[in-house]
Amino acid sequence: MIYAGIVAGGSGTRIKNANIPKQFIEIGGVPILVRTVRAFAEIGEIAKIYIGINPDWYDYADEMLDKFGTDRDRVSLINGGRDRNGTVMNILNALTSEHEVNKGDVLLTHDAVRPFISREIIEGNISCARENHACGTYIPSDDTIIRTTDGNTVSENLVRSELMRAQTPQSFEIAALQECIAKLGNERVSQLTDTCGIFTECGYPIHIVSGDPMNFKITTDHDLRLAKLIAENE
Ligand code: CTP
Repeated sequence: MIYAGIVAGGSGTRIKNANIPKQFIEIGGVPILVRTVRAFAEIGEIAKIYIGINPDWYDYADEMLDKFGTDRDRVSLINGGRDRNGTVMNILNALTSEHEVNKGDVLLTHDAVRPFISREIIEGNISCARENHACGTYIPSDDTIIRTTDGNTVSENLVRSELMRAQTPQSFEIAALQECIAKLGNERVSQLTDTCGIFTECGYPIHIVSGDPMNFKITTDHDLRLAKLIAENE
């Protein structure tokens, strides 16, 4: 079975011109979270979509999903965690308490605030995670990236051709994720901020799925303006 987990438990502090978390802001008349959920709901192979929400916004999100005609048999709202990885862990717990996990079952985890994800990226993650324990979505870096240790001078010029930018989904074979969590222990897992990091520490490679610049994350007011422009001109 294929499952999706949409992480929507953040509060969007880097967006300054909003009084609600960014995932609830409407772009082109539809909330960002609803757009993201719809992209996954369009993929028939995905059996169930879990959304992790900050408990303070649970009722708001619940009403919003109903208002925008979400299929509540296939989309479940659960409480998110303290950080992004905590939200992924809550999604994993909800999923495994409701469904028996079999070898080869896959969980795709995606940021709620990447609403322009394409069918190709979702399908690419499904095929990758069917064949490998862990996959992530990446795009080449257009910019040269430097390292600085003091914030004033360049310590190192990194080789652009070896660098990629991480997007989501991050996708996992669920049984392998459970095995890694058991191996590392809950305390160590709670220190890791990234779910791919759990696999890396467990010794599994992360396989690369090609992303797309349109699958950008709405992080700042600039990103939000861009997202509105795109959504209003669709
Ligand atoms: N996220 C989550 N649970 C948390 C924190 C973040 O599910 N406790 C989710 C966010 O809702 C978002 C994704 O992780 O979909 C990516 O995180 P980011 O862009 O950093 O979102 P925020 O934490 O909301 O933003 P900010 O850091 O600006 O406050």
